[in-house]
Amino acid sequence: MDIVFFSAKKYDQESFAHINRQYGFALRFFETHLCADTAPIAAGADAVCIFVNDQLDDACLTALATNGIRLVLLRCAGFNQVDTAAAQRLGIIVARVPAYAPEGVAEHAVGLILALNRKLCKAHSRVREANFSLDGLQGFNLHGCTVGVMGTGKIGSAFCRIMLGFGCEVYAYDPVPNDALKALGVIYVTRDKLFTVARIISLHCPLSADTQHLINHEALNLMPPGVMLINTSRGALIDTPAVIQHLKTGHLGYLGLDVYEEEAHLFFNDESEHILQDDVFARLLTFPNVLITGHQAFLTQEALHNIGETTLENAKQEHSGLNCGNRV
Ligand code: NAI
Repeated sequence: MDIVFFSAKKYDQESFAHINRQYGFALRFFETHLCADTAPIAAGADAVCIFVNDQLDDACLTALATNGIRLVLLRCAGFNQVDTAAAQRLGIIVARVPAYAPEGVAEHAVGLILALNRKLCKAHSRVREANFSLDGLQGFNLHGCTVGVMGTGKIGSAFCRIMLGFGCEVYAYDPVPNDALKALGVIYVTRDKLFTVARIISLHCPLSADTQHLINHEALNLMPPGVMLINTSRGALIDTPAVIQHLKTGHLGYLGLDVYEEEAHLFFNDESEHILQDDVFARLLTFPNVLITGHQAFLTQEALHNIGETTLENAKQEHSGLNCGNRV
């Protein structure tokens, strides 16, 4: 079986090459994104393997179909980047990795909270410069703090359990509440109620028509002054210009992001020698109470291993004419 990888980084190649010893597939790796223009690279292959910022819109899927591709392997959980109706129309099967290390993503969200709250980046820079002043480094106790969790699927559940461990009062909103979390003490409330009660809000719901720009002016106005907002899910859950307005007034106290709506042009690449063209992102970087990582919440040893194993197993099953069970 011949699989062409797009948006492939060194860590993808190493991880997949290692796991492929059990499968013996022919793997070809390309750094370029998959789009309608690059789809012909895969001509003659059995499948393409893509990541979060490869846009599988109608044009791209049509180009894949024209080049004989009938299987798309997503090496990620989210599939908002896929036009599933077009894939179905073209007879292209799309399979994903529904869960690979939810705890790792949840832990990264907690890392952002701790770093923002206790101003760890600033503190580290000061100490390196022999500035041991504590002015401006005051944080607050997480113990007893109200935390709001938007989406309590695999990652949101792991996040709830960690925050309960800190002694937080955990509120959640999810159209499908989780009884096991309720038993642990998580309190399910409406979406608006969650915005009003939580001092820290963490987003763990998928991106959909219902959740796009979920965090807009209206939602931000419901939140208490000084609220901390964390997004490790998908950038477009947040209306970034609205968030910037609320950062400027001081109403939004802290912002921790691992994802950004326009990240496809920035993240996963070394852009350090280029002039930043995205003025919205540039503005975000100016705030002392904003901490951004470049979509790395998934990046743990365990996750890479699980992604590789599930992706190649999906490929094997589908290539044998079976339904791998992870189709989108
Ligand atoms: P999941 O499918 O297990 O859970 C999603 C939950 O969101 C479900 O319980 C669902 O009922 C709920 N939900 C659906 N619509 C909602 C709405 N309108 N409001 C509130 N909740 C809603 O997904 P999982 O594995 O927990 O992943 C969550 C998201 O995290 C993914 O969609 C993906 O975008 C993102 N992600 C980010 C990563 C990163 O590296 N930053 C890595 C992996 C996933």
